[in-house]
Amino acid sequence: MENLKAIVLAAGEGSRMKSKTPKVLHKILNKTMLDYVIEAARGGSAEAVCVVVGHKAEEVKAGIACDGVGFALQKEQKGTGHAVMMAADFIEDDKDMLILYGDTPLMQGESLARLAEIHRTEGNGVTVVSAVLDDPTGYGRIVRDSAGNFRKIVEHKDASAEERGIQEINTGIYIFNGRALRESLQKLGNENAQGEYYLTDCLESILLDGGRVGIVTAEDADEFFGVNSRVQLAEAAGIMRERVNRKHMENGVTIIDPANTCIDPSVKIGMDTVILPGCVLEGDTVIGEDCEVGPHTRLTDMKLGNGVKIQQTVALESEIGDGAVVGPFAYIRPNCHIGNRVKVGDFVEVKNSTIGDGTKIPHLSYVGDTDAGERINFGCGSIMVNYDGKKKHRTTVGNDVFVGCNVNLVAPVTVEQGAYIAAGSTITKDVPEDVLAVARARQQVIKGWKEKRFEK
Ligand code: UD1
Ligand code: MG
Repeated sequence: MENLKAIVLAAGEGSRMKSKTPKVLHKILNKTMLDYVIEAARGGSAEAVCVVVGHKAEEVKAGIACDGVGFALQKEQKGTGHAVMMAADFIEDDKDMLILYGDTPLMQGESLARLAEIHRTEGNGVTVVSAVLDDPTGYGRIVRDSAGNFRKIVEHKDASAEERGIQEINTGIYIFNGRALRESLQKLGNENAQGEYYLTDCLESILLDGGRVGIVTAEDADEFFGVNSRVQLAEAAGIMRERVNRKHMENGVTIIDPANTCIDPSVKIGMDTVILPGCVLEGDTVIGEDCEVGPHTRLTDMKLGNGVKIQQTVALESEIGDGAVVGPFAYIRPNCHIGNRVKVGDFVEVKNSTIGDGTKIPHLSYVGDTDAGERINFGCGSIMVNYDGKKKHRTTVGNDVFVGCNVNLVAPVTVEQGAYIAAGSTITKDVPEDVLAVARARQQVIKGWKEKRFEK
């Protein structure tokens, strides 16, 4: 939308969170509340976003993942109106100014775009979004006159018993005409219970100056839920989780237990994939079609092909090919390229390795810094010995190699294709193609030993 700019207030400490971390940096599904708000402002087509920072300003600035935002500094936190004053240079008389609080992470861009349209069609000096709540405790209340028009907003702490009975609250989302905002800020006082400059008083001031104050009642009150405490953070996270899970289900993903499935908004999942209970799917994870994920699996920045089965596993920053089977109890660490139809079984750790198509690592193995070919069988207890106490080294294993049980491959070492490694071997030298390598003490059978040992 043309001529729309946004100011996001994020200077407060959020003391009710009881946290060392500034409130707006608290996360929901791995994204800060502030980033959700900035994205919503952009989704509502704001052409520029200015974030007002104050409490732990540098930490807040550094904590923003969105780029291209401007900043204003509010050194002392003297209220929401005072915070907007600090962004005075950003306010333009002939533009509309969207004002958002950094602690309302659930609002959506489309709703803000709709608000801007209503604001313009009605020719308002300011438009505020209200919501009707069963429990309005803590919020500012919208006081209307007998004709139902806006009269003022009264903060919970300043409200009379009668006003506290009002269930229509101020969500803290407004669009101001730039000039009306600037002029009303100049008149703002701080005579109230908290001695703060309340942005909410600007609305009454615009009204008294003959401007129109529009009220848009939110269709979905959840969207404008303000987070002031950890309990509310958990509540907001629950709503966000439900929203994300619902979108995947509508796209053809089965989620067995949505209440126990945490999927970041950025994750992509293909059709007919089933997510079992207890999964945490994070970051830029992309899951193909017909997969079965979980139970109890954490995937962070993972790429899974189609038809992958992965259970009771932690997997990070890696790729897994079509039809692979992983877990239970596998640990895939960053930078692994695991091919199609590979099996990574129980108690197997793979790190910084390439595993070719059809290779099997079924049990109790460590495969680190390894380039493994196709159709290899790593026997139970195969260990790639990659660390000499100072440096890491790589292991190379060719196609169709058979690694017996309880084998150490001491890197740097290469086993060429088709070779067999006898169980219990510790391989320290390269192994040529198609041979059997045995590197262990030969078995001896000592007759008469027992009689001698135990003779009286
Ligand atoms: C505010 C509104 C209230 C509304 C509620 C909706 C005012 C006076 N009250 O109350 O009517 O119902 O939000 O959630 O506006 N901030 C600053 N600088 C300051 C103070 C606050 O940047 O000096 C920022 C905070 O970081 C926060 C936002 O403004 O992101 C809102 O502040 P908060 O203290 O949470 O206001 P509420 O008491 O929730
Ligand atoms: Mg708040």
